Amino acid sequence: MMNGMSPEVSEHVPICSTKDIVTARQKGRELAHCFKFSKGEQTRFATAISELTRNILTYADTGSCQFYVYTDKNYHTIMAKIIDHGPGIENPKLAMTDGYSSGNGLGLGLPGAKRLVHELSIKSEPGLTQIEITIRQKKY
Ligand SMILES: Nc1ncnc2c1ncn2[C@@H]1O[C@H](COP(=O)(O)OP(=O)(O)OP(=O)(O)O)[C@@H](O)[C@H]1O
Ligand SMILES: [Mg+2]
Repeated sequence: MMNGMSPEVSEHVPICSTKDIVTARQKGRELAHCFKFSKGEQTRFATAISELTRNILTYADTGSCQFYVYTDKNYHTIMAKIIDHGPGIENPKLAMTDGYSSGNGLGLGLPGAKRLVHELSIKSEPGLTQIEITIRQKKY
């Protein structure tokens, strides 16, 4: 929850296969479109969601992507919370470094996602990884 406010919209996409990545990606784009984020921001948000949900399939098997929209006096904020119950990110700081991969990846998913959104935060321990990304748009 952000600033103690209840979200206006919340939706939930289970992530079990690559088609769920597409669903989560589309849902993120659709929400950003609904709240009048630019085409570029819609695409950046959608791309960050696909990187993070793809990591679920690679490193944790299954998980979920939850969406929350918060509106205050000045801003619309959309948050995607990407959750899994896998082994956890061993060293989140290292994982955020360009080029670091514990597998065969390019190691660009997490740091790339951070650059695409307003904010990215990681909470991870064995059995629970939660990554929150937010985009923010001034109301007009
Ligand atoms: N959900 C997760 N659970 C456990 N570890 C993770 C998770 N997401 C990322 N990691 C760890 O963080 C590292 C960096 O992730 P990142 O997405 O940046 O790169 P990658 O997945 O290895 O390669 P790329 O995404 O560029 O194909 C991963 O190699 C993995 O060790
Ligand atoms: Mg990745």
